[in-house]
Amino acid sequence: MSRQLRIGIVGCGGIARAHVKGYKNNQGVHIVAVYDVKPQAAEKLAEETGARVMGSLDEMVQGGDLDAVSICSPPAMHLANCKPFLKAGISVLCEKPLEVNAGKAGRLAALSRRSRSVFMTAFCHRFHPAIIELKGLIDRGVLGKPLLFRNLFGGYSPLKGNHRTDPKLSGGGCLVDHCAHSVDLFRFLVGEPVIVQAMAGNIMQKLRIEDFGMINLATRGNAAFGEITASYSLQVCGNFVEWYGTKGTAIVSYWNPGFADLSYKVKGGNEWKPVDCAKHVDRFTGEIRHFLDCVRNGKKPSVTAEDGVKAACIAGAIYQSAERGRRISVA
Ligand SMILES: NC(=O)c1ccc[n+]([C@@H]2O[C@H](COP(=O)([O-])OP(=O)(O)OC[C@H]3O[C@@H](n4cnc5c(N)ncnc54)[C@H](O)[C@@H]3O)[C@@H](O)[C@H]2O)c1
Repeated sequence: MSRQLRIGIVGCGGIARAHVKGYKNNQGVHIVAVYDVKPQAAEKLAEETGARVMGSLDEMVQGGDLDAVSICSPPAMHLANCKPFLKAGISVLCEKPLEVNAGKAGRLAALSRRSRSVFMTAFCHRFHPAIIELKGLIDRGVLGKPLLFRNLFGGYSPLKGNHRTDPKLSGGGCLVDHCAHSVDLFRFLVGEPVIVQAMAGNIMQKLRIEDFGMINLATRGNAAFGEITASYSLQVCGNFVEWYGTKGTAIVSYWNPGFADLSYKVKGGNEWKPVDCAKHVDRFTGEIRHFLDCVRNGKKPSVTAEDGVKAACIAGAIYQSAERGRRISVA
């Protein structure tokens, strides 16, 4: 068996727990070091994992003997938090959105290109079992060419006191938080958007960031369209991805009792066919399995820094559109 990989976690809040679970569900890894600007947060995660609390990023780089880190801090710290690890050749799995704007995301991608480390942007929905199966249907031509992508990610998240309410830390509201995933799924399942049109609303929670957002997207020549809705404030919400093609339609339902995880219907068919997605591990375990495989075997991850930069460029166009009230070309 290959040697145990030594892992560090930077940022010990909510998503760090999903990474910990993802690492624990994979073999041959040890979480050995944790760091957070709030020592109590690091101490709590250290208790849960048996890892050592580090007093600074430098201590983690020099004293952790690490193979890889997960960066789970707020977006505005991703560039600064990734930098020392990339310089030291320690591999990095960095949470989405890659940074708070395309400029900083681009600088992070440039650093990762100059490093010998493996760098992966944590677009975990590409590893969601039903999305893996949907991508298979699309790639095998079962559904034909893409025409329309529709997606709703929402639910109720009371955000008072959360880093997400400070646009300097988060880069924006649900249009960049949930929609980093949505936009990445559009690119993964449909293609590159060249035009976006968006609206943002501060409807329920009266925060400094939007708690409702809607985006329309189009690929070159209006060959396919996207319609994305996101919210922190829908009181009851099913989360869905719908993919409409020239030969058929598929619907991914996220954890909605009574709905199949993925079902599809082809043109002329009589019924919606459910697809068994149970053979795949959950999206965090799958994402981390892929990251660890890349670290062990020096492979390039399927989700790159450039994917994070592209999502950040699209997010920039989305906010310009929401502010100016018109369609914006994606630079
Ligand atoms: N992939 C997903 O589905 C998913 C889900 C939730 C969050 N996220 C992403 O994960 C990141 C963190 O989100 P969260 O919900 O865990 O936030 P959180 O507020 O729960 O936790 C963030 C932690 O980072 C710490 N922190 C702040 N500044 C830091 C710094 N400079 N260095 C180290 N630690 C620092 C905070 O003290 C806090 O403990 C964000 O980028 C968010 O978009 C991704």
